[in-house]
Amino acid sequence: MQYSRPLTSKWQAPSNIAIVKYWGKRDIQEPVNPSVSFSLSEAVSRTQITSTPSEDGGFSFHLEGKEVPGFHGKISKFLELAMGRLPMIKNHFLKIESSNTFPHSTGIASSASAMSALAFCLADLQQQITPKNSLDISEVSSLARLGSGSAARSVYGGWNLWGRLTEIPESSDHYAVPVPVSVDPVFQEFHDDILIVKSDKKPVSSSEGHALMNYHPYRTGRIKQAHKNTLSLIKILETGDLDGFIELAESEALSLHALMMSSTPSYTLLQPNSLLLIEKIREFRKTKDIPVSFTMDAGPNIHLLYPHEFSKEIAQWEDTTLKPLCEDRRIITDYIGKGPQKIINS
Ligand code: PMV
Repeated sequence: MQYSRPLTSKWQAPSNIAIVKYWGKRDIQEPVNPSVSFSLSEAVSRTQITSTPSEDGGFSFHLEGKEVPGFHGKISKFLELAMGRLPMIKNHFLKIESSNTFPHSTGIASSASAMSALAFCLADLQQQITPKNSLDISEVSSLARLGSGSAARSVYGGWNLWGRLTEIPESSDHYAVPVPVSVDPVFQEFHDDILIVKSDKKPVSSSEGHALMNYHPYRTGRIKQAHKNTLSLIKILETGDLDGFIELAESEALSLHALMMSSTPSYTLLQPNSLLLIEKIREFRKTKDIPVSFTMDAGPNIHLLYPHEFSKEIAQWEDTTLKPLCEDRRIITDYIGKGPQKIINS
C-alpha cells in the first residue's frame, strides 16, 4: 500500500503480578521456568504511536509528555529485535507517547504494561499497512516478551501462564496463554493492594537478578519447584482452594527473595518493614480467619492478596495496622482486570 500520511495506533495494557515467579532466562528473553500471573485493573500503561514513512526509521519517546533519554536504550533494543517480524519499523519514524496510571518504583511492573501496550500498537500499525485476518494475540505476547519477559503475560486479562510444561500442550516459552482451566469465581474477583515500603529505585535491577540465576547453586531445584508450583496453582485456581493458594503464593514470594539472598554476589531487597508487614498479615489471617496472603515482586513492597468478599474488613485493618508501616502511609489498591484495549479517538 502506498501512502504518506501518518498512521496512528493507541492501546491500553495492564501490569500483572506473578504468583509463580519467572526468575532466570535464556536466549532471547525465554524463561528458564514457567510462571503464572494475573493482570491488574487500575495499573495500566497507555501508549500511542504515530508512524510516518522515513527511509531511516528512528523513533522518539515521551513518558507523561516528557522526553526520557533513560528509556531509549531499552526501546531501541526492543525495536531492533521486533524489526524481523514487523518490517514497518525499518522504514517508519515512530513517535511513541506513553503514560502510566501508577507511579514508578512502587512494585508495579511498568515494563510489563508498557511493553505490552507498545507491542499492541506496533502489531496494529503493521496490520494497517499489510492487513492480515486479525491481530494474533499470541504473536503480540511473543513481541511483548522481547521487550520485557513478564510483559508476555500482560496481553490478556485474568490469569495467564507463560513458559513451556510438557503437561500443558498449549504452553510456550515464546508467548503466554490464558490458564487452560475454568477459574473458580473466588479467584476471578481477586484483590492486590500494594503496601509501599520503599519507593526508591532498587539497588539491583531485575535483569541483573535474572542473570545471577545462570550459575546459581539452587538453579536446578528452583526450576523444579516452579514447574511443580505452576501445575499446583492451576489446579488451585480451578478448584478454588484458598488454603493451597496462600501456602503456594507466600512460598513462591519468599523463594524469590531467598534466591536473591543466596546469589553470588548476594543481595537483599527486603526492608525491616517488609518483614513486619508479613508478620502482621500472617497474624491477622490466623486470628480473624480471613484468607489474606501476600506476594512480592523483586522489591521491598508487599502485595496483599485477598478475595473480594473481605474488602471491607481488610480496608479497616489497612488503615489501623498496615498504613503506619508503609512509606507515607501509602497503599495502592488494585484488583484483577480485563486486559488490553484499543483506544479509539481520544
Ligand atoms: O519481566 P522482568 O524481566 O522485569 O522480570 C520480572 C520478574 C518478576 O517480576 C520478579 C517475576 C515475574 O514473573 O513477574
